[in-house]
Parts: sequence; C-alpha cells; structure tokens
Amino acid sequence: MLRISDLHAAYDKAEVLQGIDLEVGPGEVICLIGRNGVGKSSTMKSIVRDQIVVTGGEIVFDGQSLAGVRPHDVIRRGVGYVPEDRRVFASLSVLENLKVPRPVAAPDRRRWTVDEVFRLFPQLHDYRHRSAGVMSGGEQQMLSIARSLLTCPKLLLLDEPHEGLAPKIAEEVVDAIVALKREGVSMIVSEQALNTIRRCADRVYVIDRGMTVWNGSVDGFYADPEITRKFLMVQ
Ligand SMILES: Nc1ncnc2c1ncn2[C@@H]1O[C@H](COP(=O)(O)OP(=O)(O)OP(=O)(O)O)[C@@H](O)[C@H]1O
Ligand SMILES: [Mg+2]
Repeated sequence: MLRISDLHAAYDKAEVLQGIDLEVGPGEVICLIGRNGVGKSSTMKSIVRDQIVVTGGEIVFDGQSLAGVRPHDVIRRGVGYVPEDRRVFASLSVLENLKVPRPVAAPDRRRWTVDEVFRLFPQLHDYRHRSAGVMSGGEQQMLSIARSLLTCPKLLLLDEPHEGLAPKIAEEVVDAIVALKREGVSMIVSEQALNTIRRCADRVYVIDRGMTVWNGSVDGFYADPEITRKFLMVQ
C-alpha cells in the first residue's frame, strides 16, 4: 500500500527528515511514536506534500511513486489526511463541510456516503446545521475525519487525533479508529497514548531526530522498557 524509503525532507533550507523508512500493508494500522519535534507530522506532510519539500528518498503509494504528484492528486489517488490543526471550514455548517470533498469513482475503493459517516459519528448528525467553528475540538476532529473519509481513502493519515481532547471524547475518536480498522481502512496514526496504541496498532514505528530508529510489533514495543523510556513522551 505505502512504502517510504530513506525519505529526506526540508522546510526552506532546514532538513528535518533524514532517513525515514516505513511500510503500511493493506488494512494495516501503524502508529508513529516519538517525542515532540522529531518529525511525525513532517512524515505525514511529506506524503501529502503539505508545506514540506521532499529532498531525497522515495514514497511509493499503491505501486506508483508520488514524486512530483500535486497535493490534491495525492488525495485523489486515495490518501486521506487529517492534519493536527483539523482545518474545518469554520463558517460552513457541518453538512456543508461534508459536501466539500469530491467523491471519487474508483471500483477498488470503499465508497463512503454522508449517511455512513453520520452513523460513525452520530453527534455530527445532531449538529449537522451548526457552524463548524462553534463546535468543540472533539467534534471538529470527528468532522475532519468524516470529511477525509468522503474522499474514499485507501490510506488515512491521522495526526495526533486526540491531541487536546477531553478523555471521554478522545475515547470516542479511538472507537471510530477501531471501527474504521474493522472496515479495512489502512491508517498511519501519530500517537502517544498507550491505550490507543494497544487498541488499534498492528505495528509501531519510532522516530527520533528525523529518522526511524525502531519498528516492530506492539508487543515487542512494550517488551522493551528502554524504548518506551527513551522515545515515548507519555508513559
Ligand atoms: N512549517 C514549518 N516550518 C519550519 N520548520 C518546521 C515547520 N513545521 C515543523 N517544523 C520543524 O520540523 C521539526 C519536526 O517537526 P514535526 O512537526 O514534524 O514534529 P512532530 O514529531 O510532529 O512533533 P509534535 O509531537 O510536537 O507534533 C521540528 O524541529 C519543527 O520545529
Ligand atoms: Mg506533530
């Protein structure tokens, strides 16, 4: 599904990624782990060409290189992206936000409808006529995930999906991730919370100073206290 080899990437002249290697198989959920500022968001931004410039290495999605592919074409090829800052259209209603993505007609992709995303996030249905800008952080997060599903992604990138959310809402977001996993959506989740990693990850990648320094199973990750001590913010 996705293979990243020796990825280097920079903002202006500052190279922040200096050797990221990562693979995601069909239906697989991987968690990106690492302390603040090590390059988790930058790895996702490199895949969708958001702000950052790829300076070396290769990203292959669905058998094709993403080199030179424009951001909206990466999304059209089947990568859904939910950035840290969510980026909902504040002045539009929930329903209007969900009408923004253009549906993709591709026989090999699971199609999502507005009704289906309302089933996944019932609160969004209740608030469908409310302005997105007045909703809570958790509701905006759900809206951002719902909107990205309407692009019918094969691979979903979720950047710290419950950063700053109250525990109960955060749990609902994790429930949604688990439900999406059951639907067969491949995901990369940038994550610090142990129980989320346990609940949804198939494998874990640890990033340190712009490089992938460890990868393996969730059990392998927890079996090595040295790794959790060194690379996890929240323990
Ligand atoms: N738009 C930008 N312009 C310049 N430098 C940036 C930009 N965004 C991030 N950086 C720098 O790139 C490095 C990696 O940041 P990144 O946001 O990828 O880290 P992260 O692992 O996602 O951290 P966090 O856990 O805080 O979200 C940091 O040194 C950061 O200061
Ligand atoms: Mg980040």
